[in-house]
Amino acid sequence: MDNLEKIDKDYILHTYNRDHIHFTHGENAKIYDNNGKMYIDFTSGIGVNSLGHNNKNLVEAISSQASKLLHLSNIFLIEPQAKLAKKLVELSTYKMRVFFSNSGLEANECAIKIARKYGESTNRFEIITLKNSFHGRSIATLKACGQDKMHKHFAPFPDGFLYAENIYDAINLAKKRKNVIAIMIELIQGEGGIYAMPKEEVKSLEYFCKNNDVLLIVDEVQSGIYRSGEFLASNIYKITPDVITLAKGLGGGIPIGATMTNKIDIFETSDHGSTFGGNFLSSVAGLCVLDTLESFKKSNKLNANIEYFSEQLEQICNNNKKIFIDVSGIGFMRGIKTKNDNLVSMVIKKAKENQVLILKSGNATLRFLPPITITQEEIKIGFKRLQNALNEINQDI
Ligand SMILES: Cc1ncc(COP(=O)(O)O)c(C=O)c1O
Repeated sequence: MDNLEKIDKDYILHTYNRDHIHFTHGENAKIYDNNGKMYIDFTSGIGVNSLGHNNKNLVEAISSQASKLLHLSNIFLIEPQAKLAKKLVELSTYKMRVFFSNSGLEANECAIKIARKYGESTNRFEIITLKNSFHGRSIATLKACGQDKMHKHFAPFPDGFLYAENIYDAINLAKKRKNVIAIMIELIQGEGGIYAMPKEEVKSLEYFCKNNDVLLIVDEVQSGIYRSGEFLASNIYKITPDVITLAKGLGGGIPIGATMTNKIDIFETSDHGSTFGGNFLSSVAGLCVLDTLESFKKSNKLNANIEYFSEQLEQICNNNKKIFIDVSGIGFMRGIKTKNDNLVSMVIKKAKENQVLILKSGNATLRFLPPITITQEEIKIGFKRLQNALNEINQDI
């Protein structure tokens, strides 16, 4: 065990199943370990490094901001924060206002608070989420996760969360109860197996919510910021949510969360707050990410690269039918279902040995979250290496 591994083991709480590759630097979708070995990154820090690694625009934006002001406090005007909020609202096409925090769970906490305050006058407080959903790891957002395994160890949890098998079930549950104030969903479930909600179900949910004064909260922490190919997955589904939450890809690696809502006057002073949320550094990073990806989208490169990635993904699925069942997801948020749980771990391990990084989602799905700026050359190398890994597995099974 080298020294770094030992220090990590001795001093860090063991909440992660740590991989001991020691990465030192990167360039877009290529990352290098301390021996100089290059890996293709199909994970982008679990959907965070939207501009890949060492993006020149982002490096320049945050370095230049660092030499002026990193942080003051939300008691003062913060120019890049105001500009970032305006940009988010304009790109979303919705009439909303924004609250900034630092992470996905915080964005969702804020969404829950919006719902609770909105329901206060009619005594409605229940929030329905879906089985297999994932919304974060604070006490409230853990309870908001529909997965039973999330509700161990940390009780008592806050009341008022109900779970539905699917969207139609959520609508039926809301009809039966008097106190439902919100239904919260991921349009493409990230941790729950890369499952894209069927469009007609989502439209029915929007219709139900609008007609029953129930808030539609869409957790776009993973699916937002062009990961789906559009700015928001909500844009693809052609819906108008009441609350949208964002984080991960927004800062390109600098922590930032955002909660957008059309209930623009819901909060009064001190109803909510955050020390760090939307400070100079993270807001400048967010603006740079949005400007860069907006141009990338307009140039049509994003669509072309997603198409190329999809072709490669389908091909790898079809050529390895002993291992895979089918592909799922939208844009650059993609999955391949494997025949069983063991195969997922085996593919991830072999892929790593072949220098390509892939994630797991749910029980038996491989998850691909490449940088949004990944090039076709990087995609090609990644899938070639993945096929080499699969050849080794095909020989063994
Ligand atoms: C859909 C979704 N919501 C919320 C979260 C929580 O985000 P964070 O880890 O930034 O708190 C995640 C993280 O994976 C997520 O995928």
